[in-house]
Amino acid sequence: MIKSQDYLIVKEFIPDEIEQGSILNIFTNNVTAHTHGFHKYPAKFIPHIPKWAINKYLSRQKSKTILDPFCGSGTTLVEGILVGHNVIGIDIDPLSCLIAKVKTTAVNISELNKVSDWLVKGIKKKKRGEFKPECETIEHWFPKETINKLSIIRTLINQIPERFGDNKSIKDIQHLLIICFSSIIRRVSYADNESQKTYVSHTHIKAPEEPLSLFLSQLDLFKERITKFSENIKPKLRNRIICSSSTDSLKVKLKGQNIDLAITSPPYIKAIDYIYNQMVELFWIGDLFGIQTQPKQNEKKKEYIGTKHFYKKEFVEYTPFETIIGIKKLDDKIQRVFKIDKKNGHKHAYITFKYFVGMENHFAEISKCLDKGRHYIMVVGDSSVSNIPFNTADFLTEIAERNGFKITNKWGYKIKNRYMRFDRNGRGGIIEIDWVLDLEKI
Ligand SMILES: C[S@@+](CC[C@H](N)C(=O)[O-])C[C@H]1O[C@@H](n2cnc3c(N)ncnc32)[C@H](O)[C@@H]1O
Repeated sequence: MIKSQDYLIVKEFIPDEIEQGSILNIFTNNVTAHTHGFHKYPAKFIPHIPKWAINKYLSRQKSKTILDPFCGSGTTLVEGILVGHNVIGIDIDPLSCLIAKVKTTAVNISELNKVSDWLVKGIKKKKRGEFKPECETIEHWFPKETINKLSIIRTLINQIPERFGDNKSIKDIQHLLIICFSSIIRRVSYADNESQKTYVSHTHIKAPEEPLSLFLSQLDLFKERITKFSENIKPKLRNRIICSSSTDSLKVKLKGQNIDLAITSPPYIKAIDYIYNQMVELFWIGDLFGIQTQPKQNEKKKEYIGTKHFYKKEFVEYTPFETIIGIKKLDDKIQRVFKIDKKNGHKHAYITFKYFVGMENHFAEISKCLDKGRHYIMVVGDSSVSNIPFNTADFLTEIAERNGFKITNKWGYKIKNRYMRFDRNGRGGIIEIDWVLDLEKI
């Protein structure tokens, strides 16, 4: 446990040079500025981290290319494009990719006003929606009248291209409105607002918010923020969001594009089930990604790094004594999980092994995409598995080092907003510090 007097206090702005091993306590009220606050996303990092990295490595430069290979809701990408750089984001999660796209795409404001005026009128006039979520238990998640009101909004949003033209500019506006719609869903449902998991609590009974007025006020906020954003972004800058895995064929996916700086926060070992977290949103917009039903969602979960979801047959023959990573301390820990945890040790050992294999594949790939001297900033927290602590940041450093990187600095910061950062019952391990690894391609 780190004592409060050991923290280095920082207000809003992180200095370029930080002494190795320092732990920062960052005081900020400013994490939802610009388009950052458009949508909640589990394990978002604070914009201050990518801002610090961009300032340190690309200051006074313009139109460079920044990559975030686990971009989530696009925090890095927003910071990059705001200061005049091209950005590329990759993520396996389709909702995160749409959020990241919307947060980094300038729109035509007069078209947006036209479409949103029409939408607002339609919402006020329409009595019934035609859109139906493919979920038999939908009334467990939402009040009856809310289901109809959400259906009205989604039905109207679906009609936009037919009504205003099926072109890129209108598609961008339609995507913005989809994300605006998605951003209210958890709040208008019975599901607990703060939990990492989507469930209806019977001890903390929730009164869901009224969807139409909430959507209209959210729409005002989106319009105001995207207008400012669109006015500030240089039209020539590009944002590319690739919905795919960062563990294979990265060079092909990037089409040989030169990367000047990479910044990311990868998944944690068995930390977050992103799909489970977004379940109520996916009932309403999952059809756009082919994951509107629970069976389809369960299939998708298997693709994430750090996932706990796979078929038993995948690990029946695995033992950590025969199949190793090749880092002694790490292999010893995985073997301890296997031996000590009588109930789940076999599965947990495999989850942990698979996590590091996935991350190694990623390092091997990204190593091919960065030129010598380029930096890769990675933010990651340590975890515990079956009550055995794993210094994930140090193990990832060793893996990076055997894939063409050297570590040039490691410092940490105290996590403030515990929103959806943790497994509530602690089994995923309490992560108090996020470590910032500054890796350089050699
Ligand atoms: C810690 S989150 C990133 C959050 C992001 N920094 C933000 O501010 O929103 C990690 C991300 O890794 C993604 N991910 C998991 N497995 C992946 C894979 N194989 N390839 C690409 N992305 C993956 C998850 O979907 C999740 O969005």
